Amino acid sequence: MALEVIVLAAGMGKRMHSSLPKVLHAVAAQPMLFHVIKTAASLNPQAIHVVLGHGGDKVEAALKQLSPELQALVKVCYQKEQLGTAHAVAQALPQVAASSQVIVLYGDTPLTPKVELERLLAALNEGAALSLLTAEPDNPAGYGRIVRSATGALQGIVEDKDASPEQKAIREINTGMIATTGALLQEYLPQIGNNNAQGEYYLTDLAGLLVQAGQNVVGIKSAPENIELLSGINNKQQLAFVERLYQEHAANQFLMDGLTLADPKRFDLRGELHFGQDCFIDINVIIEGKVTLGNNVVIGAGCVLKDVAIGDNSVISPYTIMERSELKVHTTVGPFARLRPGNVLEDEVHIGNFVEVKNSHIEYGTKAGHLTYLGDSDIGANTNIGAGTITCNYDGANKHRTTIGKDVFVGSDTQLVAPVTVEDGATIGAGTTVTRTVKAKSLVVTRAPLRAIADYERPTKKPKA
Ligand code: UD1
Ligand code: CA
Repeated sequence: MALEVIVLAAGMGKRMHSSLPKVLHAVAAQPMLFHVIKTAASLNPQAIHVVLGHGGDKVEAALKQLSPELQALVKVCYQKEQLGTAHAVAQALPQVAASSQVIVLYGDTPLTPKVELERLLAALNEGAALSLLTAEPDNPAGYGRIVRSATGALQGIVEDKDASPEQKAIREINTGMIATTGALLQEYLPQIGNNNAQGEYYLTDLAGLLVQAGQNVVGIKSAPENIELLSGINNKQQLAFVERLYQEHAANQFLMDGLTLADPKRFDLRGELHFGQDCFIDINVIIEGKVTLGNNVVIGAGCVLKDVAIGDNSVISPYTIMERSELKVHTTVGPFARLRPGNVLEDEVHIGNFVEVKNSHIEYGTKAGHLTYLGDSDIGANTNIGAGTITCNYDGANKHRTTIGKDVFVGSDTQLVAPVTVEDGATIGAGTTVTRTVKAKSLVVTRAPLRAIADYERPTKKPKA
């Protein structure tokens, strides 16, 4: 049977105190709605219907950041007035086939575990008309309660605001995630009224209606270890809680897969991380985009890595920032280095402290140890770049390349005014400004001669008036 998912995301999220629609607030640097859409997509549905309302235009624009495959699955519909969760589902219903199985998810519950949704679907496939995910949290206050008969048969759901004191004592709550069919939604949603404490059309009333109609409704208790993952986000405090939960789960998974983390509580994943054997990540490292580590890679404290691949046996020393760069094997970078986009560092390259590298290809074994800017450059193997070397790649209007051969010695405090070429084996004396081609194996030096003035007296401070 085909599956369609409906994601409710029309609420405004008043308690976020923000101009950004609630479902666009980020968990692990991604709108929380994207997490829900990805989980939904992992169930291989035919379509994911996202119901938008408050700030819907902003949400729709944000959806364009999803991958083309996900965008093709997502169908947007609008709920102009937020009249309740049943009304929200009704807005998507014209697009849903009667013959489909349907799962309803909330856009503000980003960590909903896939396994629990699979259990809802399994119950449908075993004959239930409606399966709903329940939980027994320590504090049920605020949630809809699951009302069962003396024999344990599910009778209905009562919202917190409508519950009697006896019903409020019920510990089993409604998480909000349900599975049913398009046909049943078409038949029963129109029968839901809004005669309740909030004057809303409650999707939760579907349970009672189906039970009264003699249909099989099952409440499936989520596994205790998944209860926290079903936490919805209504305010910044809950957002922070869910962010930590996400990070804790990601870190634990990495530990189980063999990554060594100095402290799983001080590690932030804001993208994907892939790693080989025996990698070590020190505290306060941030991973963004797609990061790949080979075997035996060490990442020092406080590094920020975005879209980089780092080869075997490389060591990235503390507080190094790098983006869109490829590092081959046995490279050493940092501390306090910055790799801006577009670099390839071949085997055994060394980039030291306070060195900035951008859009550069650096060959085997070359070293730039200190205080240097290498931008738009191609540098051959086994070259030494002295402290304070600057590629002057920008003439105020255009960028130009600097080409340096192999076995070159660039003395400290050299300026290379691009476009310029230094050929293999050349030597550049300290303090030189290179403005034209340096021939292979030659020495160039531009240095004002040293003057010496004997018995020089320094100026002294004038006494204050
Ligand atoms: C809902 C459930 C409650 C459950 C709780 C779990 C109902 C009536 N109640 O209550 O049983 O315990 O979730 O968190 O369903 N939304 C719309 N349009 C609307 C109203 C809501 O899109 O008109 C969306 C919200 O943006 C949100 C979700 O539906 O993503 C849930 O709505 P919310 O108002 O937060 O429901 P709760 O009162 O928390
Ligand atoms: Ca809610």
